[in-house]
Amino acid sequence: MKIGFIGMGIMGSRMAANLLKNEYELSVNIRTKDKARSLLEMGARWAETPAKLGQKVDVLITMLADPEAVYEVTLGKDGFLEALKPGSIWIDCSTVNPSFSEKMASEAAGRNIRFLDAPVMGSRGPAEGGVLVFLVGGVEAVVEACQPYFTAMGRKVIHVGNWGKGSAMKMVFNMLLGVAMQSFSEAMALGRSLGIEPDKLIENLIDSPVTAPFLAGKKEKIEKHQFSADFPLKWMFKDLHLVGLSAFEGGVALPLAGVTKELFALARSNGWGAEDFSAVYKLLNR
Ligand SMILES: NC(=O)c1ccc[n+]([C@@H]2O[C@H](COP(=O)([O-])OP(=O)(O)OC[C@H]3O[C@@H](n4cnc5c(N)ncnc54)[C@H](OP(=O)(O)O)[C@@H]3O)[C@@H](O)[C@H]2O)c1
Repeated sequence: MKIGFIGMGIMGSRMAANLLKNEYELSVNIRTKDKARSLLEMGARWAETPAKLGQKVDVLITMLADPEAVYEVTLGKDGFLEALKPGSIWIDCSTVNPSFSEKMASEAAGRNIRFLDAPVMGSRGPAEGGVLVFLVGGVEAVVEACQPYFTAMGRKVIHVGNWGKGSAMKMVFNMLLGVAMQSFSEAMALGRSLGIEPDKLIENLIDSPVTAPFLAGKKEKIEKHQFSADFPLKWMFKDLHLVGLSAFEGGVALPLAGVTKELFALARSNGWGAEDFSAVYKLLNR
């Protein structure tokens, strides 16, 4: 099987490296070729455009910033969707909104391409270690056919339902992630204002059942006030925007997610978009 990969950012570069380590024949494309350099040195082949990549692979995986980026490489100029052979598989691991995934699934089906939406849980470390969790939407037989590729990049596959349901699950998870990060920041601001020693405060909060477990992994960043990106803040803002869009489409009100999105907008406008999403902490804890 020949695999293609587009998207060489924090996540994609590490996921593609794990496919190479598992000895898959891998070809790659990305608009900034420099970002593919280490993969090319590991043995990946280069394709000049997404379309040229599509012509030579059986399975194509995308791990891109947002729906606009995914649209550009699939249906934009030199997009790969027309180039893939009928019967090929496209796995989109990018975090996008479910209605966009459904639209892509139907564009793919119209060309006899088998589609899965498969966004991931886990950040830089799990991507590097090959222990991501895939949240998958699509047809069971296609999920089964792709199991070896998921195994090369992750530790678990959750088949949530048909097309769009992987992305739907991802929206739910990231809404909780964003809200929990902001609510922890507010708890810290309150505790500090009441005179509790910051070390004692953070230690006790992280050790308690009321705090989301992922915050243990953010402890060092918060203590050192050094927010190097695992999951960039600009993507959490994007995800909360997509959560709002999905809530509008689903006819449900999400007041906390809405306020949280605006706080992330504020953090981004402070110039923290490329920092980790936990940098939202700085809004109330300077
Ligand atoms: N980082 C995490 O912890 C994490 C965890 C789970 C899910 N995610 C999701 O995974 C996806 C990738 O995240 P990441 O952290 O790897 O992001 P990233 O480092 O910013 O990489 C994004 C990739 O998308 C490409 N891209 C952006 N706009 C494009 C366009 N218009 N056309 C073509 N390519 C374009 C970038 O290309 P250039 O290099 O040329 O800019 C880059 O290769 C996002 O949807 C994110 O929400 C991230």
